Amino acid sequence: MRKNIVAGNWKMHKTQKETVALLEEIIAQQTNTNAELIVAPTFVNLAKAVEITQGKGITVAAQNMHQAEGGAFTGEIAASMLTDIGVNTVILGHSERRAYFHESDALLASKVDTALKHDMRVIFCFGEELKDRQNDNHFNVVEYQLRDGLFHIDKKDWTNIVLAYEPVWAIGTGETASPDQAQEMHKFIRTLVEKVYGFDIADALTILYGGSVKPENAKEIFSKPDVDGGLIGGAALKAADFIAIAKGF
Ligand code: 13P
Repeated sequence: MRKNIVAGNWKMHKTQKETVALLEEIIAQQTNTNAELIVAPTFVNLAKAVEITQGKGITVAAQNMHQAEGGAFTGEIAASMLTDIGVNTVILGHSERRAYFHESDALLASKVDTALKHDMRVIFCFGEELKDRQNDNHFNVVEYQLRDGLFHIDKKDWTNIVLAYEPVWAIGTGETASPDQAQEMHKFIRTLVEKVYGFDIADALTILYGGSVKPENAKEIFSKPDVDGGLIGGAALKAADFIAIAKGF
């Protein structure tokens, strides 16, 4: 059975005080959601988030990490530093990392390798830009992001992979892919994984949709057979909205 996940990518928001307050609200409101809840605060608030969510059924994830084991990489964070504080899930390949920090598919492939080596779960993000969709090139772009960033991994490692399809044109814009557009792309992705890795891996794979998911549209998007949850940005910063989205299952 495929797992449903609703993950909040908090991006560069929330001080430690605000992180604690938001987590306490989420914990208080999170009754009966049929999805795993993941929160991804900033690096400096991860340890605090792990402490607060202990035993509450909420997973804490990092938004990024460096590919090296350690060394002279000023300002960076290694996998072992995350697992050491109880963070075993990491978001890699977010379009903001790709666009503003020039993370290439090749770099992401090595980050994925490092995360898997540390037995971390990877939420691997990808998605086309508006021009790709306008040029009817979106399936190609997504295929190459997956082939170049992820499809070198071993079959056995897919149990630690969650995919997050986030069309760039839908992120933070208020514009959402329609449920049918999301389903069409998710089906394409699952079929691609099946071609390369076989039915069992593709069938068990959780594929999240991200891009302006809100309480008002979550239920319809999540009702699609190949959409197994969401990666939520803006709406994850309000406990009531985040929980309402999770209740879309
Ligand atoms: P929004 O939900 O704010 O569009 O952001 C989506 C996203 O980038 C999640 O990673």
